[in-house]
Amino acid sequence: MIKNQNVLITGGAGFIGSHLFERLIENDNFPLILDNFSSPYSENEKIVSEITKNYETNKDYELIKGDLVDNSILTSIDYDIDIIFHLAAIPGVRYSIKNAAEVTNNNIISTVNIFENALNMNVKKVVFGSSSSVYGNPLYTPVDENHPKNPISPYAVSKLSCENYADYYFREFELPVTSLRFYTVYGPRGRPDMAIWIFINNVLHNKPIIIFGDGEQIRDFTFISDIIDGLILAAESNQSSGEIFNLGGSNPITINQLVDKIYEIAQKPIDVQYLEKQRGDVQVTHSKIEKAQRVLLFNPKVNIDEGLIKTYEWQLENLE
Ligand SMILES: NC(=O)c1ccc[n+]([C@@H]2O[C@H](COP(=O)([O-])OP(=O)(O)OC[C@H]3O[C@@H](n4cnc5c(N)ncnc54)[C@H](O)[C@@H]3O)[C@@H](O)[C@H]2O)c1
Repeated sequence: MIKNQNVLITGGAGFIGSHLFERLIENDNFPLILDNFSSPYSENEKIVSEITKNYETNKDYELIKGDLVDNSILTSIDYDIDIIFHLAAIPGVRYSIKNAAEVTNNNIISTVNIFENALNMNVKKVVFGSSSSVYGNPLYTPVDENHPKNPISPYAVSKLSCENYADYYFREFELPVTSLRFYTVYGPRGRPDMAIWIFINNVLHNKPIIIFGDGEQIRDFTFISDIIDGLILAAESNQSSGEIFNLGGSNPITINQLVDKIYEIAQKPIDVQYLEKQRGDVQVTHSKIEKAQRVLLFNPKVNIDEGLIKTYEWQLENLE
């Protein structure tokens, strides 16, 4: 486990970054969150106050509010950084289709700024949060890292482009960078634009669940703590630089099965409505994680039933 390190977490006021912050600070590291609090749906202020509330007296973290598209925010960091987890991005496939230029500019420029500065900072490792969306609609499943990349949204194109920059900085400058392709991450403090969060929220508020398409689309849901394990393992590994890994639960289910599972937990009638399939949504996500298992010793531990209960209970407790 990473210990006593200065760790920069970009996007640390978001869903995945905030869980990483908690894991790192609990293991005696000094996390530095850099975030512009821009997420269109996320409640960044709330997230930050929740994750830092236990550490206020013993302040062993730092928070910088700033935009990574502006390079000066990085050059202003005046102490050594050991590891960078680059998670800042505007996520969301559908949002990117409506806001292609904003997402492209934000996601790619911020990543190039991170890689450029990482060279000068002499960091031990940069871990970049990529996405399974780079594959588009799979030609075969489960999808391994060499599967062709056919992204079908500006968001997915931006992630693929960032991976190409990672590869460039690794080959040309030996920057020790690793890209991780996350598969639909869910859990407590999840993103309010994602299916599991919306479905549970609607059930708790006695509102119908809206499914886009026939509900037979397949998703590889991955619980947040497994993703955090994968991030840390990638940072620790001395075989991960210049490599790309799928990080998924690798046990996909259909959206209709997901709704059935939520029904079993909630134990109340759920009204389900079906609307037209949305542009940018792929039909199947299903990760092959053999490479991450072999090289990183990644081993997802939380199955969908257990993960859904934890998520449901958190949303119930935090119901507005
Ligand atoms: N959640 C998932 O299922 C999933 C799946 C695949 C990939 N990812 C990737 O993982 C990363 C984290 O995702 P998340 O679900 O936690 O999203 P999130 O929106 O909760 O967190 C992203 C954070 O980045 C910050 N940010 C965005 N642009 C920034 C900029 N220019 N400068 C500084 N901060 C900026 C936002 O304010 C936000 O707090 C993202 O890169 C996302 O693309 C997430």
